[in-house]
Order: sequence, then C-alpha cells, then structure tokens
Amino acid sequence: MNNAFEQIQQTPAWPLVHAVPDPELAQTVKLTINGQECHLKIEPWVSLLDALREYIGLTGTKKGCDHGQCGACTVMVDGKRINSCMTLAIMKQGCEITTIEGLTKGDELHPMQEAFIEHDAYQCGYCTPGQICSAVALVKEGKANTRDEISELMSGNICRCGAYTNIVDAIMQAKGVMNNE
Ligand code: FES
Ligand code: FES
Repeated sequence: MNNAFEQIQQTPAWPLVHAVPDPELAQTVKLTINGQECHLKIEPWVSLLDALREYIGLTGTKKGCDHGQCGACTVMVDGKRINSCMTLAIMKQGCEITTIEGLTKGDELHPMQEAFIEHDAYQCGYCTPGQICSAVALVKEGKANTRDEISELMSGNICRCGAYTNIVDAIMQAKGVMNNE
C-alpha cells in the first residue's frame, strides 16, 4: 500500500466504515489529493466524491443531492471547480485534487475560510466546504469582480440557510487578500 494513502487512512476525520471494492472488478487509480499521491483500488464507477469520503476518509467534502444540483460536493481539480458527485474518480488519474482539507497550511486557515468565519457566512455549515472551494477557484480564475458576478457564478452552490449576502461579503474580502498574496 502507498505510504501517502496509509498516512491519510490513519488520520480520518472520524472512524469510518470504509467501502470495500470488489477485488475482481477494482482497478488501481492514482490521484494526487491535497499534495499527497494516493493509489486506490476502486471499481471504475466509483465517483470522486465517494472515493474521497468512503475510501480515503476525507469527509470535509459533503454529499448533498448526489445529482449535480447542490454544489455541496465541490472540489478543485487542477484549479477548476467541479461537482465531485458527477465525476468518476478514474477520470481524474494524475490530476491535482484539492479538497477543503487541503486549503489550510498547518493550523493556518485559508483567507477564504477566515473571511467566511468573519462574515458569519455559514450557518448550518453543510454547504460551506463546497461554497469555499467554489469561491477560491473563482478568485483564482480572475473572476468574482463584482457582487453580481459572484452571485451569478456561485449560483450552483445552494445554501438553504440564506447566508448568501454574507457569502458574497466574505468572497469580496478574501479576493482582496488573495490577490495581494
Ligand atoms: S452532492 Fe454533488 S452537486 Fe449535490
Ligand atoms: S449554511 Fe449552507 S446550507 Fe446551511
């Protein structure tokens, strides 16, 4: 077993019952997740979301609708935001995947995470990992230039608690910090 995978396995967010792949159908898939190379034995139909949560134990990425409609499962792949529930893990061989867990530097939060806290931009917090990953990718793409643009481009991320205004405030603030780094 790969060392990086073992390392991630040893530090799950909480104990999980890991999914067990069918040994006859499983294939080895190499993914780079938050800078660590992982070699997973999974069936070819396993979504990236399930690979992250159920095989690796990175449960920060949330499963909301599992149908590409809520954005709770958003992660960055090669810097671009995608719905991981609509993506097969095997299609992302060799790609750089960043989840909410990968945005911190040690104990230091990402400026977007800081801004979400400062602006009370999440309430139940369930949609928040996806909101933050989307927001970081938007800024990195050079978008998020106006409040209207942020609202439009974040519309694939649904928050049922009505924290949208605070989310836009947080993104405007973090954008300034990120662009000055
Ligand atoms: S869980 Fe993927 S979009 Fe809802
Ligand atoms: S904070 Fe987003 S759904 Fe509750």
